[in-house]
Amino acid sequence: MQTKLATSVGITLDRFIKKKQNDFAFASGELSQLLRDIALAGKIIQREVNRAGLLNISGAYGAENVQGEEQQKLDVIANIRFIRALKNGGEVCAIVSEEDDEILDIKNPDGRYIVAMDPLDGSSNIDVNVSIGTIFSIFRRVSPVGSKVTEEDVLQKGSEQVAAGYLLYGSSTMLVYTTGRGVNGFTYDPSLGEFFLSHAEMKIPEDGQIYSINEGGYRSFDPKVQQYIERCKDKKFTARYIGSLVADFHRNLLKGGIYIYPSTEKAPNGKLRLNYECNALAMICEQAGGLATDGKTRILDIQPESLHQRVPFYTGSKKMVEDALK
Ligand code: AHG
Ligand code: MN
Ligand code: MN
Ligand code: MN
Repeated sequence: MQTKLATSVGITLDRFIKKKQNDFAFASGELSQLLRDIALAGKIIQREVNRAGLLNISGAYGAENVQGEEQQKLDVIANIRFIRALKNGGEVCAIVSEEDDEILDIKNPDGRYIVAMDPLDGSSNIDVNVSIGTIFSIFRRVSPVGSKVTEEDVLQKGSEQVAAGYLLYGSSTMLVYTTGRGVNGFTYDPSLGEFFLSHAEMKIPEDGQIYSINEGGYRSFDPKVQQYIERCKDKKFTARYIGSLVADFHRNLLKGGIYIYPSTEKAPNGKLRLNYECNALAMICEQAGGLATDGKTRILDIQPESLHQRVPFYTGSKKMVEDALK
């Protein structure tokens, strides 16, 4: 049997960004450049991720982050790589990261953008060769250019994001992002060193049959969440939980489904971080036609009170999220 192998032809990320810049006239080319910087950092991380087992960069780093989590070497490496790329790019005045206690003032007061990031999502999956990712949110600063970055700059509601996205280091590496005009996904071709548009104008199915939740915590879930899980079982839905938020989210985005990280006894406000994880994915999900809430409030409407704030997270296909909230 002869199989036709597809080759990567089509529009590159660079060209796509350029085209969109012309179409919609981003205020200047700065946001476009920032997205390119993130893509470059993503290429570097995917290289490290692919060789992690060979380079002695798997395993624990030997320190705890502000979240009280044991940092993995790749958490630290990804954080450094992204910070470096964003510093070199020159568009950003401050970075906030899951791995850093405080706002990183990168000594570029002329930068107009703030980036919030989870440099390496799914740390527990690094050493077992399972998909991991990077999540980012981009905000325009509210303080005047040239001045010192303020807390108000970094604690903006998700609805103020000018762009958001993630990189998924899976069976292939993908970059998925939105600037508030739909969602587009790009697949990395390592032989060419380029991202190509592979998933144009992504839409999440309105309804789905996949539920993703760490059911090990079942006994400490709110009865409403327990009842929803029971409903999923009654309907013979499929349970899928990778334990890397980006990977679980991406699958549900493509196939239709719901992801829930509820409050638990161990984590009364859930585990996921509003500023580094939930905001970006909420923007993407909404842009793709889905929903994202903390169980009561739309994620994008939550006013962050602190950098590392956690929130319960329900996101995915519109009908499923609505059903879970009933
Ligand atoms: P991170 O690796 O950035 O700290 O994020 C871990 C998060 C997320 O990726 C995942 O969905 C979730 O933790 C899994 O938590 P449980 O192991 O409690 O299910
Ligand atoms: Mn972590
Ligand atoms: Mn994470
Ligand atoms: Mn992380």
